[in-house]
Amino acid sequence: MCGIVGIIGVEPVANRLVEALRRLEYRGYDSAGIATLSAVGLDRRRAEGKLNNLASRLENDPLDGLIGIGHTRWATHGGATESNAHPHSTDKVAVVHNGIIENFKDLLEDLERDGYLPASQTDTESIALWVTRELDRGASPREAVAATLPRLRGTFGLAFLFAGDEKLLIAARQGSPLAIGHGQEEMYLGSDAFALAPFTKQITYLEEGDWAVITPQKVEILDFDGRPVERIRQVSSASAALADKGNHRHFMAKEIAEQPETVSHTLAHYIDLSNETVSLRESLPFDFAELSRLTITACGTAYYAGLVAKYWFERYARLAVDVDVASEFRYREPPLAENGLTLVISQSGETADTLAALRYSAREGQHIAALVNVQESTIARESHVVFPTLCGPEIGVASTKAFTAQLTALASLVIAAGEARGVLSASRAHELVRALIELPSAISEALRHEKSIEGLARQLARASDVLYLGRGQMFPLALEGALKLKEISYIHAEGYAAGELKHGPIALVNEEMPVVVVAPSDELMEKTLSNMHEVAARGGKIILITDAEGVAEAGDGISDIIEMPRVHPFVAPILASIPVQLLAYHTAVFMGTDVDQPRNLAKSVTVE
Ligand code: AGP
Repeated sequence: MCGIVGIIGVEPVANRLVEALRRLEYRGYDSAGIATLSAVGLDRRRAEGKLNNLASRLENDPLDGLIGIGHTRWATHGGATESNAHPHSTDKVAVVHNGIIENFKDLLEDLERDGYLPASQTDTESIALWVTRELDRGASPREAVAATLPRLRGTFGLAFLFAGDEKLLIAARQGSPLAIGHGQEEMYLGSDAFALAPFTKQITYLEEGDWAVITPQKVEILDFDGRPVERIRQVSSASAALADKGNHRHFMAKEIAEQPETVSHTLAHYIDLSNETVSLRESLPFDFAELSRLTITACGTAYYAGLVAKYWFERYARLAVDVDVASEFRYREPPLAENGLTLVISQSGETADTLAALRYSAREGQHIAALVNVQESTIARESHVVFPTLCGPEIGVASTKAFTAQLTALASLVIAAGEARGVLSASRAHELVRALIELPSAISEALRHEKSIEGLARQLARASDVLYLGRGQMFPLALEGALKLKEISYIHAEGYAAGELKHGPIALVNEEMPVVVVAPSDELMEKTLSNMHEVAARGGKIILITDAEGVAEAGDGISDIIEMPRVHPFVAPILASIPVQLLAYHTAVFMGTDVDQPRNLAKSVTVE
């Protein structure tokens, strides 16, 4: 995740921008830069590598100015070079960006027709050039940004600095968080309150789809339609620790909301966004083409990620997969295929059963790969290759952003495996990569359904039992939805393969028991809908999670529908995570349970 800072000051800002960026180093980066507005106009200094390189650049070649923006860059489009480092600027505007602009190539094509040519390989520069063209056409800075934002598809946290106005910053948020800091005579902007803690504790967090016109006199916050919106100003606890809940009631809520950004960040590790191909950075101690079989083992939510991956590896890479919970796998002691790979999945990288399963497979001579969120964990250290999820610290005991990051990484590995095994053509692989690139903005859109999902959670809160149904790659989502609900609301819930309904569970159906059906439109939709109608015919109350096509196919008799954006079937399981997470979260809030630390649970089960 990139880091953004900005200051409208009454004192020089260059060094303070660098210091604020140091508080964002935890987000990971490979280059950095600042821009200020001074007597010489807009000027910037950028450097590859760590902030000390930028600091020495500034020592040798200082930047004046009482207003500026800064950025730490995690390379997505284009290498980690000085020319790709932010801020990106023209003589009229400088901009820093956190996120992924999916349609930057279309924007650049349009701009090049008018002679606006990029100097970098980044998606961000298309924003600087688009705003510049608006300014050249006579727009004010505010009008230029207002005209640009609706053209951007993807995720972005943005900060703009304009030539000729040393009292104005403009910020915008879609999928990447931004906080405004209120000073005495100064104003601040940052990716989180932690970056601003040395300046102020008075913070206003932007919400999804907000943009802000910031001057020392006032902060105007608007939605993308230009309507003013109210956002609360609060005292931030960020000085205490990185883990600040922002304007969320719980860490789980914050981590659910972070997913457009964390999925983008994980994606950028596996996909070269300039040419839209999977490009693994890890050197593999095995060859996907030679693998005879893949064994995946994990616990809890990580296990469900492995179950989804089974459908993907088998369908898109034609690689046979066995998946088992680690606590069973380690004692079952299964014979493992010659030249097989065991992939362990673990957010914490410390789960005892998963570590034991890894050690069993290592003793059996398997290649060992780990998909972990904590890179320095025990599981990572004992693996032959480590694939990272890059979603930052997950504080809530119920795993949310780690799950979607695991699925994002797994989906990328599936594409790499399919291409290596010669069963995925370049065009089909590109189709799947595009589906992943467009996913963060679909997640952003799905998060905007939170209010309606909160309403449905009231129903679940009254239930004593809930059934989740899914078919195919959605069956693991039914299991995950049930786990989320029971572990934080303490309501009994079961996930079932929809096709199994008639083999017993349908006996449970009555008017008291909500049945959540996870069924975005795909080739299995029709079968799942008939299961659903069997439930409705027996008085069951259905909550259907689907997309517009699914709504049309479902017809009547469905009590409640959660309509999600339509996405490529390949990434539908990742998107479906959002409604099941929100449903569980809001049910638990109604139940008044300790959402972040549910009873009897630990974040990492390091004992058997
Ligand atoms: C998920 O919401 C649970 N908190 C739990 O099932 C968790 O996924 C499991 O304990 C595995 O943890 P790990 O990913 O850190 O190995």
